[in-house]
Amino acid sequence: MKKTLIALCLFCFAGTSLNAQLKLNEKNIKEVVKAMTLEEKAKMVIGCSSSAFTGYGNSTLYVPGSAASTAMIERLGILPSVLADGPAGLRISPRREGTEQTYFCTAFPIGTALASSWNTELVENVGKSIGNEVLEYGVDVLLAPGQNLHRDPLCGRNFEYYSEDPYISGKIAAAYVRGVQSQGVGTSVKHFAVNNAETNRKDNDSRLSQRALRELYLKGFEISIKESKPWTVMTAYNAINGQQSMESRELLTDILRNEWGYEGYVMCDWAYAGLRNTQKEIWAGNDLLTPGSDQQYNEVLEAIKNGSLSETDLNNSVERILRIVVKSPRFHGYKYSDKPDLQAHAKVARQAATECIVLLENKDNTLPLSGNGKNVGLFGISSYDFIAGGTGSGSVNKAYTINLLDGLKSYGYNVNNKLSEFYTEQVTKSIEALIAKNPIYAYLGRTSLSEVSISDKLIEESASQDDFAVITLGRSNGEGLDRHAFDDYLLTGIEKNMLSKVSTAFHKAGKKVIVILNISGATEVEPLKGLADAIVCCWLPGQEGGNAVMDVLSGKENPSGKLTMSIPITYFDTNTYDNFPYDYTGPAAMGKYAVTPKPERKNVHYINYDEGIYVGYRYYHTKNVKLSYPFGYGLSYTSFQYSNPTVKATKDGFTATITVKNTGKVAGKEVVQLYVTAPDGGLDKPACELKSFGKTKLLQPGQSETLTFNVDAYTLASFNEAASQWETAAGDYKIYFAANIEDVRGSGAYTQKKAQAWKVNNVLKKQ
Ligand code: BGC
Repeated sequence: MKKTLIALCLFCFAGTSLNAQLKLNEKNIKEVVKAMTLEEKAKMVIGCSSSAFTGYGNSTLYVPGSAASTAMIERLGILPSVLADGPAGLRISPRREGTEQTYFCTAFPIGTALASSWNTELVENVGKSIGNEVLEYGVDVLLAPGQNLHRDPLCGRNFEYYSEDPYISGKIAAAYVRGVQSQGVGTSVKHFAVNNAETNRKDNDSRLSQRALRELYLKGFEISIKESKPWTVMTAYNAINGQQSMESRELLTDILRNEWGYEGYVMCDWAYAGLRNTQKEIWAGNDLLTPGSDQQYNEVLEAIKNGSLSETDLNNSVERILRIVVKSPRFHGYKYSDKPDLQAHAKVARQAATECIVLLENKDNTLPLSGNGKNVGLFGISSYDFIAGGTGSGSVNKAYTINLLDGLKSYGYNVNNKLSEFYTEQVTKSIEALIAKNPIYAYLGRTSLSEVSISDKLIEESASQDDFAVITLGRSNGEGLDRHAFDDYLLTGIEKNMLSKVSTAFHKAGKKVIVILNISGATEVEPLKGLADAIVCCWLPGQEGGNAVMDVLSGKENPSGKLTMSIPITYFDTNTYDNFPYDYTGPAAMGKYAVTPKPERKNVHYINYDEGIYVGYRYYHTKNVKLSYPFGYGLSYTSFQYSNPTVKATKDGFTATITVKNTGKVAGKEVVQLYVTAPDGGLDKPACELKSFGKTKLLQPGQSETLTFNVDAYTLASFNEAASQWETAAGDYKIYFAANIEDVRGSGAYTQKKAQAWKVNNVLKKQ
């Protein structure tokens, strides 16, 4: 008896000491999960917000301004991993109490701009710089990239996203993830999925066909997740066909994990306690309930106790989180410097911003500027208050923004003094007015300033003294609010007035007018065509914007960006406007557009995606709708000739090649887009779809390069709802090599000998 007691004590002691020694590492994750108490597991799936739930940590204690962290459980050697926004650069607090040191991050071009480069290498390089700042500021996972589709130009977060096309969205997102993760830190591909409007964003259901869901809204995620293996995925606020994204087992387990083989963890978008059903989220496969609260912690414990959540599901979530925790720099004790090389990254930001610029018009070679003189009439409030990025979690706390005034000066231009004094004063006044209205603007990213009226006298004086005019039109948007059709997509009265007066005065004096679009996304440009000699779209180009624009205006760099969305003539040329919660209070003149009476934005609880797969160019091009600029459009200072198109069948699809020659006088890069038209007889299809793209290196005049495009049979497939399968029909496919969707420069054909099909789960049905 005595012996047994001693043995038992020894066993217990050994057991405790063994457990006491059990510390998490890459190989013992399952064992650690087994050793965790229920309370510890609940902590793990709740995580720590930047304020709530401080009992288990507080992400701002690790990195001020971070968005959340995973929990720390010292007993088992589980260290926290810190999560911070966002897509255009790391977002943390730039200043900390008790120190003069600053913690600024580099503001890179917004997502839409990055995609306009059509250059995955460039995007990967930007990702590397962002990833390095993530690493050196002690953050483990960046809450980016955002890659939802531009379904309608008014979505307030389109600026964080890439395109109306899922193929380029997926490829750009994959490049971004590869770049960031090459630094040993993680990403969070977001917002999964069908997050295409900000109106009533936490209570809005995206209602769409399974085909549109699969082919368009999930496709980009499928590409980036399979190709780049992001450490985490963030679900969306919205529901999909009645299922909340973060509570949808069909989305997170059936599709994401079982079909696509995703192995990281899933976190939800910042859904505070009470918004969603905690146990359902874990059951669905949404592992981390960011930002986490005591209430959700108690709900997890209660759900396990009353059997509504199985401990296996909870264990799986904990295990998936730990698998990422062990990869995190903080777990490995990485000694971050808090001093990333911001100067080097600013150079990357400038170079990227330059290559993202899309030249829309250039009458009579107005640009590059050489020969236009040195005295500039600089108009538009945004010229003096250039917009680097959007607002909300996609904003970056940067040390500075180079505006166009700075850019022109550093290139040796003289900006009209009176104009510069007038606008500088207006900038100060407008900012003061904004802060008076809402003090938050004193320290948070703010939106663009509204255009101000300018006197005829100032315009006339400038037209007589200056050599040419530059006008900047600004638009910034952000999280939580959709754009408006009137006075946002469409130009405002003040803007139109300024444009027309400046244009008339300068043209009368035989001088040129250049318009810079410092905008977050597609905006009305049609009225500009008759007024401007050159139109340059630089998007929201990040902190080096003014320099990047001047690099292009001066001719130091040749623009090579192209649009990743179509620009309709008016907002009411979209096929989504009647199913998008735009502001319904526009001028009666808009009455020619049939708009069914709508509830106020706050009462919008669902959006019908009635257009199905006909989004963006899939609609405009198929239906021959006249646009201001088509998908893929962008000019260069040089010209390119396409020759020798070839298409050869491979074991699984085809390889196509085209030779591009620089036939102009200056060096330049060309983006080539590969569109495919499917044979008749299969499913109903758009006139053509983007299936590949490529960009040449910098070609000197006379130099050529042959670009190669590999397309497999799966990439050609469409989704057949009736059979729940992807199908590539047999028959002859037409292949187009194009400078933009309306400018085909070469073609070929590919014959798919046998039809192919890929069966998937019949899930997320429209109700
Ligand atoms: C946004 C996310 C962001 C998160 C953390 C949410 O409101 O939708 O995109 O990553 O906040 O800041």
